[in-house]
Amino acid sequence: MKGLKILGTGRCLPDKLVTNDDMRAFVDTSDEWIRTRTGIQTRHFCAEGESTASLGVKAARLALERAGISPEDLGACVGCTVSSDTAAPTVASTIQRDLGLPKHIPYFDLNAGCSGFLYGLHVTRGLLLQSDKPYALLVGAETLSRVMNFQDRGTCVIFGDGAGAVVVKLEEAPYAYTLGAEGSDDVIYIGGYGSKEPYIHMEGQKTFRFAVEMVPWCIHELLGQSGLKLEDIDWFVLHQANKRIIDHVAKKLGMPGERFYQNIAHYGNTSAASIPIALDEMAEQGLLKRGQKLLCVGFGAGLTWGGALLEW
Ligand code: COA
Repeated sequence: MKGLKILGTGRCLPDKLVTNDDMRAFVDTSDEWIRTRTGIQTRHFCAEGESTASLGVKAARLALERAGISPEDLGACVGCTVSSDTAAPTVASTIQRDLGLPKHIPYFDLNAGCSGFLYGLHVTRGLLLQSDKPYALLVGAETLSRVMNFQDRGTCVIFGDGAGAVVVKLEEAPYAYTLGAEGSDDVIYIGGYGSKEPYIHMEGQKTFRFAVEMVPWCIHELLGQSGLKLEDIDWFVLHQANKRIIDHVAKKLGMPGERFYQNIAHYGNTSAASIPIALDEMAEQGLLKRGQKLLCVGFGAGLTWGGALLEW
């Protein structure tokens, strides 16, 4: 089976740190409410001069440096985002320009809500299967603060800005995937170009119920495809949407919470960027060892969901 090995990771969080108390400048909320309901303590917001693409470029540069590959060996570059600065140029093509990457390979963005990184992984694998180049660059980048309604307290306290990137290589390794969608605009909605309400809005309880049903479903689907058991998985890297969702899933599966990486406290929900940011932190902290098995699962706006089994 041709799977994907992650050779290098990178992340970029904007400098501007916004605490729960800082959010009180915009909405009637409290540190206690946000912490106990979501686990979020801080998030980062872009300042003037920063953009979805600029965060993506920085994360991508780090991932390429750490992978130690020649950019000439890249077969594709995919940006995953729901908050691109412009419809065109895309995040991916800005990365091409700013990092001087080779021109004659595909560069494009995909939007699959908070599951974007999982969709991106599988699309990237498909592209590499058709390519004579071994590597691809995959970047999740978001500036959700720019699509936030700062009067919608049930939504705006949840999200943050950031980018994460991985360089992957197609090689013999375990691999399984699941992707899906169920069209809906009454659970999580993100207004786009020409929209009357160009904001992100979330119905919290509906989203919670969707997540705690869909994440275990994805995990069992991936285990079923690969013939592995829960105990064979070293790390569960879930989309960082809410601490309570991750804790709930761990409990439902009867797995120790320590196997579920969490950084939601620091960054809030960074949509398509959350899983690559988590992978970069885990790599930096030495938590990931070659040969370990990872289950990554994303879910969110669309509604979409997606999961992948990878070997580190
Ligand atoms: N600060 C203080 N109070 C707030 C608030 C805030 N930021 N946001 C909402 N409230 C209030 C509501 O107005 C409501 O008040 P009321 O009872 O007087 O009407 C009360 O808190 C409860 O609101 P509710 O929406 O029922 O809260 P909840 O317990 O469901 O928690 C979430 C809200 C968003 C934390 C929770 O639903 C959740 O985590 N959902 C999943 C979110 C998620 O994962 N999204 C990302 C998917 S990609």
